[in-house]
Amino acid sequence: MSREDAAQPEFWEKRFRENATPWDAGRVPEALGQFLKTEPRGRRALIPGCGSGYEVRAFAEAGFETLAIDFAPAGVERARRTLGPLAHLVRLLDFFDFEFGRPFDLVYERAFLCALPRRMWPGYAPRVADLLRPGGRLAGFFFFDEGERGPPFGLKAGELEILLGGRFDRIADADVDDSIPIFAGKERWQVWTRR
Ligand SMILES: C[S@@+](CC[C@H](N)C(=O)[O-])C[C@H]1O[C@@H](n2cnc3c(N)ncnc32)[C@H](O)[C@@H]1O
Repeated sequence: MSREDAAQPEFWEKRFRENATPWDAGRVPEALGQFLKTEPRGRRALIPGCGSGYEVRAFAEAGFETLAIDFAPAGVERARRTLGPLAHLVRLLDFFDFEFGRPFDLVYERAFLCALPRRMWPGYAPRVADLLRPGGRLAGFFFFDEGERGPPFGLKAGELEILLGGRFDRIADADVDDSIPIFAGKERWQVWTRR
């Protein structure tokens, strides 16, 4: 195992501790805010790899029973600081290896898939599909880039359709206007329904 392997919590722990977090938007992205305005209350959402977790409050205020997880202790600490009284919604867990009991209605994606080394991508869609009930949705921001290096590891043209297409149908796809610099012009807001 390399110390510089993004599959390991230590990789992210180091970056949180050194405050080297260029992915951190410091706010809730506009498209998510708009999306949450039209969502019914009382549903269950998972936020994997939540980092600072700004979105957790937005989900909770929109009436979602929300669980945010991260496998880096410093990420969890950060999110808990960000969230104050909602800190209990954040837990130290590995996305690929935790017992979730009841399935979720929604899994939120931002800078999580692109944080995983590409060798782990084949495990992402089956895991998200297991976590969701049939008809549940994977919604969020997907990072597209033709380069090889990362993180962030970019999806190449047609790659997301291959990864998700066997289990999910895409029902929304839009440009993003308020990206932070590392994602500018390279991310799209998409919603996929689990078959
Ligand atoms: C690039 S950061 C994005 C954080 C957050 N989603 C955001 O938008 O600011 C990726 C995050 O995913 C977490 N992570 C990576 N692999 C994980 C796994 N298998 N389980 C849980 N968290 C993971 C990292 O610790 C890190 O906090």
